[in-house]
Amino acid sequence: MDNPFRYSGVVTGDLFVDREDEIAALHRAFRAGEHVFLYSPRRYGKTSLIREAFQRLPRGERWAYVDLSRALSVQGFVELFISAVLDGTESHADRVRRWARVFLSRLQPRLILDSVGRVQVEVGYGPRLAEPATLGEALDLPERVAEDLGVRLAVALDEFPAIAELGGDELVRAMRAAFQMHRRVSYVFAGSQTRMMEELFAAERSPFFRMGRPLRLGKIPRAAFVPFLGEGFRKGGMRLPADLAAELCQSVDDHPYFVQTLAHELWDRARARRGSITGADLAQALASVVGWHDAYYRRLWERLTLHQRRCLLALAELGAGASLFAADTIARFGLKSASHVQRALEALGREELVERRDGEYELSDPLFPHWARAAGLMPGHGARG
Ligand SMILES: Nc1ncnc2c1ncn2[C@@H]1O[C@H](COP(=O)(O)OP(=O)(O)O)[C@@H](O)[C@H]1O
Ligand SMILES: [Mg+2]
Repeated sequence: MDNPFRYSGVVTGDLFVDREDEIAALHRAFRAGEHVFLYSPRRYGKTSLIREAFQRLPRGERWAYVDLSRALSVQGFVELFISAVLDGTESHADRVRRWARVFLSRLQPRLILDSVGRVQVEVGYGPRLAEPATLGEALDLPERVAEDLGVRLAVALDEFPAIAELGGDELVRAMRAAFQMHRRVSYVFAGSQTRMMEELFAAERSPFFRMGRPLRLGKIPRAAFVPFLGEGFRKGGMRLPADLAAELCQSVDDHPYFVQTLAHELWDRARARRGSITGADLAQALASVVGWHDAYYRRLWERLTLHQRRCLLALAELGAGASLFAADTIARFGLKSASHVQRALEALGREELVERRDGEYELSDPLFPHWARAAGLMPGHGARG
């Protein structure tokens, strides 16, 4: 059998763990026509959650998914957006062509329909998109189509912060102007740049101020991951005791991507031998995963200033919730002063190495302490501790 633990790409169906509350919240928002701001650090599972929530919608409820990081220009975005909306309705080719003619009369896109009815759209190069009415026409397509079909539509705009680079304020404002009039469409704006996502819906000057409800995705509870891990090993003819599964989760701070990475490696290594997994197996798998990332960490380390390195090590050693601003911490780690700490944390935050949750700082990357220990930068050797 294939390794049941996936650490790259989207996971859905049998490979998807938990998130029942979040899926229910998304479904409620879709039905109420509310918009959602979904955010979390990278690789917590935003994309997987959106796809799973869509897949679990009953037949007849339509959805469209757009990954903004795939667009390289406003034109590219418009093409992706229109294709996703047309695809999401699963409509007959004739109907799709009629919509394009009637609803996109200024834009006049070229449609390429393949044999299974998937749509690709080319709007052609030209200054037309610079006209607000033309862009507005594209942004209004979801509502027009939903109206025509008499259905509700859920539209996800994943990697939403990319919008700022694509079209700046203008595009964001055009979106706001269009979307706020839509009655049949619910938008999910998803992104990992926590600060920017928070500002989008919470800052008064933002065009999206309070336009939807925030949904901050946390880690996956250990109580849900442990049985999933146990089952994956069982299917491979192995046994992963529950306490060891819990230890696996703990060693990477319950970070969904790293739990899956470590489980994947452990499963592969132990597969040939079968039988029961031991703590030594886990330690070896962890060391091996740290090894994969060694080049990345070394480069990262070189890039940081001395002061940022000290801050990062202090966080790694003290763990989440430690007060880096306390006088004894500053003295012990050579952090100079509270304002130096503040500046270093901000820089580390911009690099997405450190994040702030409920007023406390923590490392975004739970593997870093293991690497730092293996590299002799931190006291204590071995996988755990
Ligand atoms: N609900 C989940 N169940 C199991 N694994 C998950 C789940 N969510 C995330 N993961 C793990 O994290 C990885 C990254 O998920 P992804 O959805 O791409 O995150 P994001 O969009 O937040 O960056 C997945 O490949 C998977 O290994
Ligand atoms: Mg994603």
